[in-house]
Amino acid sequence: MGQVENYKIENEYYRQLVSDRVRSDEALWQAIGACGLSFVYADGLPQSNVIMIGEAPGKDEVKFGRPFAGKAGAILDEILAKTGIRREDIYITNTVKYRLATSGSRPGTFKNRPVKPVEITYSLDWLRHEIEIIKPKIILTLGNVPLKAMSIMQNCDIMSVSACHGKAIGIQVGDMRTTLVPLYHPASQIYNHDLKPVFEEDFHNVERMYAEI
Ligand code: URA
Repeated sequence: MGQVENYKIENEYYRQLVSDRVRSDEALWQAIGACGLSFVYADGLPQSNVIMIGEAPGKDEVKFGRPFAGKAGAILDEILAKTGIRREDIYITNTVKYRLATSGSRPGTFKNRPVKPVEITYSLDWLRHEIEIIKPKIILTLGNVPLKAMSIMQNCDIMSVSACHGKAIGIQVGDMRTTLVPLYHPASQIYNHDLKPVFEEDFHNVERMYAEI
């Protein structure tokens, strides 16, 4: 197998697997209703040392077909521009790869909704596959959803972003040792302005780690 082959993410296989799991869960499939499943795959550099994991795509991400293409993405781009980390040099994915939506107030419209725990479980194999292919030296989680996914993957108590943001945590994924750095979700500062300096300081820590790898 050539080197390029090592970077092949089996998106179509996992899309089918997740679709099958979701559709065969009657309660979940009913809750999803008319919104259906709109998938958005990862973006960025599969050869990167850094993988960044968000929650799930929203309306803008579905429209543009890449993670963090909307408001949260603009905040992310702003902080990346202040660091030595270029977006195109990292691999950016989401815990759940389809939009978490429910029916909006007007017919035919949809709005975002919180993830259901079972959706994290159904999506875990895809995320683990990505991590094993990318072999990142640093895993950055944005918000509580990907941190929960990583906690489940580690078989450890669910970590909370407020308790461990900005810390470097040694973890094992498959046969690989790597470092997890939990970060707040960029959108959290839209609702809580106090988180902006915390987010920026954590990112400067990441910048230092990034410079060392
Ligand atoms: N929020 C996320 O967590 N992921 C996206 O792709 C966009 C917004």
